[in-house]
Amino acid sequence: MRVPFNVPSISGREFEMIRDAIARGQLSGDGHYSSLCRSWMSKFTGAHDALLTHSCTAALEMASILLDIGEGDEVIMPSYTFVSTANAVVLRGGVPVFVDIRPDTLNIDETQIEAAITSRTKAICVVHYAGVVCEMDTILAIARKHGLAVVEDAAHAFGSTYKGRAAGSLGDLAAFSFHETKNIVSGEGGAILFRDSTHLKRAEIIREKGTNRSQFFRGQVDKYSWVDIGSSYLPGELIAAFLYGQLEKSKEIQDDRMGNWQRYDAALRKYHNLDVGLPNVPEHCVHNAHLFYLLLPNLDLRQEIIRRLREDGIGAPFHYIPLHSSPAGQRLGRSIGELPVSTSVSERLLRLPLYPRMGDAVDWVIDRVSKHIEDMF
Ligand SMILES: Cc1ncc(COP(=O)(O)O)c(C=O)c1O
Repeated sequence: MRVPFNVPSISGREFEMIRDAIARGQLSGDGHYSSLCRSWMSKFTGAHDALLTHSCTAALEMASILLDIGEGDEVIMPSYTFVSTANAVVLRGGVPVFVDIRPDTLNIDETQIEAAITSRTKAICVVHYAGVVCEMDTILAIARKHGLAVVEDAAHAFGSTYKGRAAGSLGDLAAFSFHETKNIVSGEGGAILFRDSTHLKRAEIIREKGTNRSQFFRGQVDKYSWVDIGSSYLPGELIAAFLYGQLEKSKEIQDDRMGNWQRYDAALRKYHNLDVGLPNVPEHCVHNAHLFYLLLPNLDLRQEIIRRLREDGIGAPFHYIPLHSSPAGQRLGRSIGELPVSTSVSERLLRLPLYPRMGDAVDWVIDRVSKHIEDMF
């Protein structure tokens, strides 16, 4: 049996929605389906508003523009994240300041954030790793105390909650990803969410190439023109229609994924005794089964398991190379200390295949992983 690492979730409603979008006659962005996605996401998360973007990367870039990140401004973030979290800052001339992660949740270590704050700090960008939300009460209190903005890189966290509040509604701004490897997908895709109305009006302009075209279409101005910096960050209607076909069925998609996550957890938790780390979800967090990972004791064992699983036909990759140790991160960022947890996790983490409708594939992965752990340890 071959088990790929990811199979994009398909709800079955996508073609119908796309056909309808075509029949409606508007293919450019911000039409009927973009509007449905927008209201759906605001209602679902409790955020003030949500605008679709091409990707989470685009949403993070918009966040940096909205926060006026400029030359030399610093943004605190974990080193253990995807490059887009940092690129969004660097593209504005800013400096990513890398902080270590917690060994239990692999989220930014909130106790190390204050030591990273300088007179140039403008924002904290948190990453809800594996769909487990960061310690937001502490982080929001630090931000309030120092007058900093908070951006949630919620690429992994669609549907997750923290003390009953949805990921995406906690920071000033938040970014979701609908890339095909995420829980809810549109191929490439994303959204920027707003906790309140502060940034919304300017966001619409930045997203429409720096023009007030959205206001023009709403009849609020009689012509549109270039009013700010901006780019083209809005997806077309076919992407929005596809995404709406997923959002409408998101409960089924998420439940299916959660079932597979729980099967892994129930079968593999016993290897904790053998120094194998497993995902840890604090009681006040509800996660979305985005990722199931193992933390092996060391790099050699992790690489050997990857090799053996590949021979079994199972795709089980690792990520991330910590940004503070990457060539661009060293040139463009600054680190707080040695970041030992980020380095260690990057060498030991293994991600297991996880997607809806895995069926027997889950049992096969459990069988092979268990055998290799028992053989090797
Ligand atoms: C933490 C994080 N942020 C941002 C992104 C970028 O998402 P997208 O591919 O939608 O631009 C990813 C992609 O996996 C990610 O893992």
